[in-house]
Amino acid sequence: MFPNVGDDLTEFQGSAPYNVSYWPGTKIRRQIRTHALELAESKHGKAGFTCVTCHDPHSQKLKFGGDEDSDKLCSSCHAEKDSDAHKLKAHNAVDIKCTDCHMPWMKHAGGRGHRYDGRSHSWDLLTPTDSLKGFDLLRPYTEKGADPDAQLTKDWQSIQAIKDLCYDNFNYPINVVGCVKFDILPNACSSCHTDEFPTPGVFTDAERAKLEEGEKRLETFIKLTK
Ligand code: HEC
Ligand code: HEC
Ligand code: HEC
Ligand code: HEC
Repeated sequence: MFPNVGDDLTEFQGSAPYNVSYWPGTKIRRQIRTHALELAESKHGKAGFTCVTCHDPHSQKLKFGGDEDSDKLCSSCHAEKDSDAHKLKAHNAVDIKCTDCHMPWMKHAGGRGHRYDGRSHSWDLLTPTDSLKGFDLLRPYTEKGADPDAQLTKDWQSIQAIKDLCYDNFNYPINVVGCVKFDILPNACSSCHTDEFPTPGVFTDAERAKLEEGEKRLETFIKLTK
């Protein structure tokens, strides 16, 4: 299928496909160097898109005027979505972009400077329910009585020793290798509706309830945009 070296985008992966991690409890790719894998698995990939469908291959800028306004890129094919009917009036009032919901910042660069420094390239909507899957999977390892031999229990204990460093800033804390293991997947709404996203590193009922509020908000949105 890919006769020439370089034709298969996944040759440019930083990590082998089998070696890249997912957000806990999901099949959502977590690492920064997985744009090509996400694209391949997405509807855009299945429709034959490559990176250069949207990015200029030399400058990496967005095509279709997308660099001044990324909505121009999306609307060049999805014009009908660029409306109050899809985005909600309240959102257009704050000049929301398609990328805010459909390509949120959610990747980990590991050794690099910040926590979420890559955008989702799957275009699947990441929901508060996806975030909850990670919360529920990780929470038992943070509680009393957690299996002391489980790797995640040990990881949680190491994080406790450098807790302040790990969680000193909500959006972009200093990235210390190991800090990220108990992060919860950001979702399409959480970059703005921050009250509906748990405080990093806190696994209580009250924090869980925030994500349930996020689920209700999404239901409301879907009703309003039907
Ligand atoms: C459907 C259009 C589309 C395709 C296809 C696409 N991108 Fe993007 N990409 C975007 C948009 C939109 C942004 C966000 C630009 C902004 O911040 O406004 C972006 C941002 C990025 C960024 C900067 C943010 C980050 O995630 O680090 C990188 C790097 C990137 N893309 C790499 C790629 C690569 C590599 C491919 C191919 C495997 C690819 N893109 C395919 C639309 C696309
Ligand atoms: C060159 C045309 C083109 C551009 C540019 C484009 N799309 Fe698409 N988009 C498509 C096609 C084709 C499909 C697949 C339709 C299908 O299979 O039903 C699609 C599918 C989607 C889906 C549905 C995904 C799913 O899993 O159901 C979303 C969401 C989406 N695009 C959002 C975006 C966003 C956001 C941008 C801008 C960053 C964008 N698109 C840019 C053509 C485009
Ligand atoms: C406030 C968040 C938000 C913004 C902004 C947003 N969307 Fe969506 N979009 C959603 C949600 C939620 C869904 C899934 C539920 C639904 O279909 O309403 C969705 C669904 C879609 C779909 C798939 C629907 C289908 O018919 O299968 C496409 C394509 C899409 N959006 C494109 C876009 C484009 C292009 C933009 C920018 C012009 C955009 N969206 C802006 C939240 C948003
Ligand atoms: C770029 C920031 C941003 C993003 C991303 C975002 N919102 Fe909003 N949203 C706002 C602002 C600002 C308001 C208006 C003030 C308020 O109600 O908090 C709002 C209001 C709303 C409202 C109330 C609308 C009304 O008419 O009363 C709903 C429902 C909503 N958002 C749902 C969502 C959902 C669901 C998502 C994710 C799919 C989302 N929003 C993503 C910024 C955002």
